[in-house]
Amino acid sequence: MGAFEGVTLADRFRNHFGHTDHLYGALLAEMADDWEVGGVTRELFEGWDDADARQFPQLRLLAGLYRIVLRGDAPQLEGFYPALGGDLDHHEAWAPVRPVLAAHVDELRKSLSEAPQTNEPARSVALLVGLARALNRTGLRRVRLLEPGASGGLGLLVDRYRFVGQGWAAGPQDSPLVVKRCEAEGFSPEAFDVVDRRGCDVAPVDAATEVGAAYLTSFVWPWQLDRHARLAAALQVAREHPVVVDRARASAWVAERLAEPVGEDVLTVVWHSVTRLYWPVEETGAMNAAVEEARGRMPLTHIAMEHRWDAAPGDADPGMPFIEVDGEAIATCDHHGPPVTFQR
Ligand SMILES: C[S@@+](CC[C@H](N)C(=O)[O-])C[C@H]1O[C@@H](n2cnc3c(N)ncnc32)[C@H](O)[C@@H]1O
Repeated sequence: MGAFEGVTLADRFRNHFGHTDHLYGALLAEMADDWEVGGVTRELFEGWDDADARQFPQLRLLAGLYRIVLRGDAPQLEGFYPALGGDLDHHEAWAPVRPVLAAHVDELRKSLSEAPQTNEPARSVALLVGLARALNRTGLRRVRLLEPGASGGLGLLVDRYRFVGQGWAAGPQDSPLVVKRCEAEGFSPEAFDVVDRRGCDVAPVDAATEVGAAYLTSFVWPWQLDRHARLAAALQVAREHPVVVDRARASAWVAERLAEPVGEDVLTVVWHSVTRLYWPVEETGAMNAAVEEARGRMPLTHIAMEHRWDAAPGDADPGMPFIEVDGEAIATCDHHGPPVTFQR
């Protein structure tokens, strides 16, 4: 029996949620039993026994399964996915799930190499708040957005979403996405025009395509209905207004973009959210250096919504994210964006 520090894959599956109160908790408990008796789960995870536990291969597999359901290849499972309108008892899911796993072994084994990749559009509230500070400071109104670690680029569509906070609102009233409960008491939104926007990612997703949209959807847990509603709305915006996300590492790409000419009346904004904690330390250093070097050549602001987790990624609770403008923490927020609380 394969083991990692005395803990088997079956133990990891059982302990991941530690309960069977939702679909994934119930499926992981069943998969643990199935792995122990040498069922299809053993075949699916062959070679993964000693993988780093933080890779969470079990979540990768469940996302792969969700993609099979999303594309309509397992209609008998749809009823177990609340995000697809399902209301069947998830304790009954294993019997119909097991043959679907067995019928898609190659595809599901491939999904084990795909790290969970979420793109949470509500995080763009951090950009909205940071941008207002920068616009106010510079008096500029035309903005070029550059986002490393953009995933599907949904965070670049900040001007196409509506945000509602405590005593304020911003963005088009008819936007498919309304980000509610932003709070940020005392915030005054500033008007701006996005004249250019572009992102990069080591694993970019084309959110304007059906396959890309399903890929992003598959990593959101199927009972998190609010997140699914926000993502679906943002994906609609992305289909209507596609953004370019290049395949590139953060620092080299930011340096290249900042070498491009830009109008004097344009504020360049390098913005990123919940990506820095995945970067090697050198990536962060090189990107910061590229930003500092470019400051003398153009109006430039660096806005981040990131956890302070520089020491040892993965080893500790990263705490709440901070919204930083040019290195100054102006607010804290939740992992998925709202609510925003300004620093006193
Ligand atoms: C948790 S996702 C966040 C995506 C998006 N920024 C958001 O907040 O919804 C982290 C993203 O960072 C990307 N990433 C990780 N390391 C990177 C690097 N060195 N350069 C560029 N992107 C990177 C991943 O591929 C992933 O899409």
